Amino acid sequence: MKRAEIPTIKVPLLDLKAQYGRIQTEVRHALDEVLDSQAFILGPSVQQFEEQVASYLQCNGAIGVASGSDALLLSLMALGIGAGDGVLVPAFTFFSTVSCVTRLGATPLFVDIDPESYLMDTKAVEVLLKGRFKPHPEGQGLFDPETHCRIKIILPVHLFGQCCSMSSLVSLGHKYHLTIVEDVAQAFGARFQIGPGISRAAGTAGDLGCFSFFPTKTLGGIGDGGLVATDQSPLADKVRMLRVHGQGSKYHHQAVGINSRLDVIQAAVLKVKLRHLDQWHDERIQRADLYHSLFLTTGLVGNQIITLPPGGNGKSHVFNCYVVRVQRRDELRHYLGEHGIQTQVYYPLPLHLQPCFDYLGYHKGDFPNAELVASQVLAIPMYPELTSELQELVVERIADFYRK
Ligand SMILES: Cc1ncc(COP(=O)(O)O)c(C=O)c1O
Repeated sequence: MKRAEIPTIKVPLLDLKAQYGRIQTEVRHALDEVLDSQAFILGPSVQQFEEQVASYLQCNGAIGVASGSDALLLSLMALGIGAGDGVLVPAFTFFSTVSCVTRLGATPLFVDIDPESYLMDTKAVEVLLKGRFKPHPEGQGLFDPETHCRIKIILPVHLFGQCCSMSSLVSLGHKYHLTIVEDVAQAFGARFQIGPGISRAAGTAGDLGCFSFFPTKTLGGIGDGGLVATDQSPLADKVRMLRVHGQGSKYHHQAVGINSRLDVIQAAVLKVKLRHLDQWHDERIQRADLYHSLFLTTGLVGNQIITLPPGGNGKSHVFNCYVVRVQRRDELRHYLGEHGIQTQVYYPLPLHLQPCFDYLGYHKGDFPNAELVASQVLAIPMYPELTSELQELVVERIADFYRK
């Protein structure tokens, strides 16, 4: 296509400028405070933000780190994961859910997903734990006779902003003496029910919760950032130490850690955004509800052409992304692009089929739901400021495509 023919974007996938426009004065003020202080590394904003997050999530400890990927890596390092250890991970997720495992020399053991929610299939986890693994002779965890590794961790991912069914995963963890590390990169503020009318924040059900503040997330910084949440003080202390090269006191190292601190500029901006987060969540859920009703009027739902994500009841889903499953996905994506509607495919290739994981010995067909979903998912525009007119346009264009 010649440059002149590139269609102008009428509906972006997300619009960070619109969000910035709402909080510009507050953000600028926060940045000025950092510059005035000239306290850049682990300055006061970092600790303040950590305290505010701990109070928002209702957990004991929150440790700011450099990215969501590092939050995962540091959590596994704090748990002492390494060669010979196995971690159960969904086959359909972002790359770093799995690379944090392999970077430490441990083995990811993939589990299929539920095709409706796109989340790790709890029943498949149970079947796997019951069927294939044996109790480890030394006690903690299970032993996999096929891979010879000791299963220590279940690593569920709250994908696209939707909370996994944590009660069942936590009881499986208790039953089989496994630690639970939650990947909450896409779901800061999502909640799961623990009883009638009682809910808790995603990332606080397991042993450690790993968050990302990549700019596109529900709580996004102005660069990279991440955080580990935990109720367990020894684990919090370990992560805090590992994020500064494993330093216990100045220039005395208890362990070999990494350099991974939440930047003070990010913390200052994130403090501002945290104040608005609940409202933004409500706005995202309203937009998801509107998509839902608009799609129902097209007659395309329920006849295999479009499958909608579940609703956001009680913030069980905070719609970091609005992801539908559609027939003829790539053709539709091209058509929408030509009409100025931005979309994205998260994620086109499941993790068990990534070339860098060939050595793990998985094949096409091993996780049929993950493979099906990867061939059908399409993220359509979603952000708190998205107008109903633009949402109507998106749905009309999708309906037009299938009427052609
Ligand atoms: C599910 C999931 N896990 C982990 C990460 C890693 O976070 P970061 O990009 O902050 O390293 C991301 C970020 O895209 C993610 O979506």
